Amino acid sequence: MPSVILIGSQWGDEGKGKVTDFLAEKADLVVRYQGGNNAGHTVVVGEQEFKLHLIPSGILYPDKTCIIGNGVVIDPGVLLKELDYLIERGISIDNLRISERAHIIMPYHKKLDEVIEESKGASKIGTTKRGIGPAYMDKAARVGIRFVDLLDNEVFEELLEQNLREKNNLLAKVYDTDGFDKDDVMEEYLGFADRLRKYCADTSLIIHNALKAGKNVLFEGAQGTLLDLDHGTYPYVTSSHPIAGAACIGAGLGPTQISKVLGVVKAYTTRVGEGPFPTELNDEVGKHLGTVGFEFGTTTGRPRRCGWFDAVITKYTVRTSGLTSMAVTKLDVLTGLKTLKICTGYRWGNEIITEFPSNLKVLAQCEPIYEEMPGWSEDITSATKIEDLPVAAQNYLKRISELSEAPVSILGVGTRRSQTIIMDEMF
Ligand code: IMP
Ligand code: MG
Repeated sequence: MPSVILIGSQWGDEGKGKVTDFLAEKADLVVRYQGGNNAGHTVVVGEQEFKLHLIPSGILYPDKTCIIGNGVVIDPGVLLKELDYLIERGISIDNLRISERAHIIMPYHKKLDEVIEESKGASKIGTTKRGIGPAYMDKAARVGIRFVDLLDNEVFEELLEQNLREKNNLLAKVYDTDGFDKDDVMEEYLGFADRLRKYCADTSLIIHNALKAGKNVLFEGAQGTLLDLDHGTYPYVTSSHPIAGAACIGAGLGPTQISKVLGVVKAYTTRVGEGPFPTELNDEVGKHLGTVGFEFGTTTGRPRRCGWFDAVITKYTVRTSGLTSMAVTKLDVLTGLKTLKICTGYRWGNEIITEFPSNLKVLAQCEPIYEEMPGWSEDITSATKIEDLPVAAQNYLKRISELSEAPVSILGVGTRRSQTIIMDEMF
């Protein structure tokens, strides 16, 4: 029963796509279980670069079953575009399965995401405006529309009618903007349904049967711990649960069926969107990380905010997701920096804080406490084992591991599949 959950350990964009792609080689199933097309994964295969938002990165292998689980919110138009993009590039999508229970992002969700953000002014979240929050709001309010509903014309029409009555009113009266016409939406969405029908299935059952047969299942998380609705920097979070526990709910299996939890950890820290970020650097080092690490959002193109490694965060992730090990990515981006800093705690007034605080006002006032380590200047992008790394790089890794309280099992030293060092196999 080898099943591995892979999650983001910081604010997302840790390089999960690359690690998933790498691990997918030995997996039989790759499953997404939360989020939607707010996520963005860049995967480099040979000379080709793929940008994926919704479809599990395992799709790049012809023989893997790829599942979009019930916990994901799906924009069917975006999904079809992504499928077409893959087909054009010669990738087979026959092995894709979509949960019938997954909720659908509707045009009014996207519109609401925009107008709600605008109405917040300076206190905006900085969402990706893909309709993710409003879709999860409707799910929790029990007025959402699921794939299984979309596949039944009558049910879909009824749900759409109910929703438009309320949403058009809201858009007009509160946000002073246009609503949507039922027939237009029906036509567009029933077209989507026609094309996607054959991929819909009871995906929890597929996963269950695969595990029973001893197959390898990889659960691919999106975003990261600090964007978690419960455990992140609320309200500057996404509306789903990037922590490992969500894989069970979002895919339809129990915690006893999980064997390992791998946290993907970037060798420094980044964040897109608003909200406090204690180790953020607005200097030359921050610029170095952004430029060398090519830190721009895959989904929105926004430059990511960059900063030093924060071990308070990674220790928090080890706790809240029960990490069995970490995959450290982008270590090569630190090459050339004379001195490296690792945040080991925060100074808040006269207090020293070593556990990630829940109070955002406190977090915003926290000053990072740094430990300094010498950097390295040697090129590490062709290292194939830990011993190939300069001693300073080995020491940096060791320190990250000690402070986070989890072993490092995988190390990324470049963007390619081959630029990955394995210390401990997942499958
Ligand atoms: P939403 O998920 O579009 O509602 O955006 C909420 C917050 O999560 C914003 O700060 C986004 O920038 C952030 N966010 C959402 N998805 C990702 C991701 O895949 N990587 C990094 N940040 C993300
Ligand atoms: Mg991303």
